[in-house]
Amino acid sequence: MRIDVLTLFPRMFEMLNDTGIFQRAINSGLVNINIHNIRDYTHDKHHVVDDYPYGGGAGMLLKPEPIFEAVEDIIMKVNPQESVPIILLTPQGIPFSQSAARRLSKHEHLVFICGHYEGVDERVRQYLVSEEISIGDYVLTGGELAAMVVIDSISRLIPGVLGSEYSPENDSHSFGLLEYPQYTRPAEYRGWSVPEVLLSGNHAQIAKWRRRQAIIRTLERRPELIDKSSLNREEQELIEQTQKAETDKDTRVE
Ligand code: ADE
Repeated sequence: MRIDVLTLFPRMFEMLNDTGIFQRAINSGLVNINIHNIRDYTHDKHHVVDDYPYGGGAGMLLKPEPIFEAVEDIIMKVNPQESVPIILLTPQGIPFSQSAARRLSKHEHLVFICGHYEGVDERVRQYLVSEEISIGDYVLTGGELAAMVVIDSISRLIPGVLGSEYSPENDSHSFGLLEYPQYTRPAEYRGWSVPEVLLSGNHAQIAKWRRRQAIIRTLERRPELIDKSSLNREEQELIEQTQKAETDKDTRVE
């Protein structure tokens, strides 16, 4: 996968080159990441990238010309025929999710634009960008950290990046549930024991226990994620029992 990032702060992306999984993705050649300074696409002496908003108001906006020119330059150089997602990171975007990560990980080329200041000229959104992504309902000083979050979650889904010993299928959110609890050695620590079933070697029982725990955990922490139609009868009953136990607890008079 080729990833191009347009930013006013290229140095923020240096950490991607020398950290963990990402370094592996780059070194293995599975991900090729190119950082472009938006300022390099200006033509004036002072390399101005922003300007005041028409109609007045606080703050500055990123001008359209350098952003259009940078994206067009990249697309022309790589493959003008290909349809490439042009993604703007902005708090106004669609909330990012594991399913969006999965969809984007199937593309061969992605372009990210990191917004800054008070925003970007609307024509960039209207006529250049193909999708806008937000990483949550809070405002960062720029799209750089958001781009890194999105790039990280996409690249780990590219086959080979995580190595054969790890598969992302059991990750939280991968099948609509949070991940089940996990334990490693020692089997007992400070009197706290690992659940018996995990030591039993009975793989069918372990799988059942894990699925049950994933459902209970999701119900406790993120009930809105549960899609009952994807659960079997027994699992649906488990949910009803857990919900009933919660209601009884809430209504009990102490
Ligand atoms: N830029 C500023 N805040 C952001 C957010 N929450 N998500 C994506 N990009 C942003």
